[in-house]
Amino acid sequence: MKKVITNTILFATGALLVTGCAGGNAGGSSSIPIGIGFAQTSNVALLGQDGINGVKIAEKYFNDKGGINGTPIKLVYQDTGGDEQGAINAFQALINKDRVVGIVGPTLSQQAFSASPIADRAKVPVIGASNTAKGIPEIGDYVARVSAPVSTVAPNALKVALKQNPNIKRVAVFFAQNDAFNKSETEIFQKAVLDAGLEIVTVQKFQTTDNDFQAQATSAINAKPDLVIISGLAADGGNVVRQLRELGYKGLIVGGNGFNTSNIFKVCQALCDGVMIAQAYSPEHPGEINKTFRQAYKSQFKTEPPQFSAQAFTAVQVFVEALQALDKKTKISSLQLPQLRTELNKQLLTGKYNTPLGEISFTPKGEVVQKDFYVAQIKMEKGGSTGKFAFLK
Ligand code: ALA
Repeated sequence: MKKVITNTILFATGALLVTGCAGGNAGGSSSIPIGIGFAQTSNVALLGQDGINGVKIAEKYFNDKGGINGTPIKLVYQDTGGDEQGAINAFQALINKDRVVGIVGPTLSQQAFSASPIADRAKVPVIGASNTAKGIPEIGDYVARVSAPVSTVAPNALKVALKQNPNIKRVAVFFAQNDAFNKSETEIFQKAVLDAGLEIVTVQKFQTTDNDFQAQATSAINAKPDLVIISGLAADGGNVVRQLRELGYKGLIVGGNGFNTSNIFKVCQALCDGVMIAQAYSPEHPGEINKTFRQAYKSQFKTEPPQFSAQAFTAVQVFVEALQALDKKTKISSLQLPQLRTELNKQLLTGKYNTPLGEISFTPKGEVVQKDFYVAQIKMEKGGSTGKFAFLK
């Protein structure tokens, strides 16, 4: 038997034939390649790793249930690294070399604004699973997301902080000025602060690549805030928290969506304790699919599934269920790849999906429509090396 190369798509007599032969097994069972473009290296891997964990659970879950009406999916990974060029290279490889039917990713909105237009022009559907900046679905007709935007998610954390401490009046705001998502998120936070009748006593800027925040932390503490709100990514944001605490800040801290990973625990350690972060997912969300996802996640990773894992699982689910629906109308094995990508994009935007995030659908532009949001507070264990996100009622 001739050996077949894993994940090669062959065009035979005009039809799409997808072959995958893991480990060079004889038999050559076919599979449908879905691209995963997350950060697996650089500081951004602190967030990207959660996405990878989520899609791995999804691949097994949906293939165990029969894949696409009997044909398994095969996830194809390209590491985006942490910057725009890395994401562009990963997307180009997924589109042209791996010839995937659609892409989940990239990790950062900052990367999406560079890489997703390339997929859009190539007419390859992209589902963002952690991009929360304003304007992601507007990148193009082929770009959607399952990660609810900053406008829907971020203000919830402020509301809960005010519930915990109704005496908050003075707010210091920090944000990473070289990052599209953080610029977008701080606008929402700052508006929410003013709408709540509070005063912004200082706005401190930094870069996601910085690691010394002493100057900004000192200025902020001198402004005597009762609350600090930080829009940064896990590595830089975690260090802002650590240095604020080391310099003596004792009040509440709200972190944005870039803090939303247990990988931040190793950055601020015991000093992460008490940071509040809005959530677009709760491990306790009712329903069979979340129960199964949560169990699989806990048994594999020995911890509760975080938001980015649940969103990444959901993005794969959307592709799987859209492919299933499409295949019932027109056998996808009879479609050429460009036609399949276009039909898949149309199909996925019209579906309703019962996911670990709850029931979701999309606006015609590709923005996620989702009902339930939460806020969690980091609780570090004694010693400060491990901790958890405790969901607040
Ligand atoms: N939510 C972050 C972003 O959109 C990770 O970049």
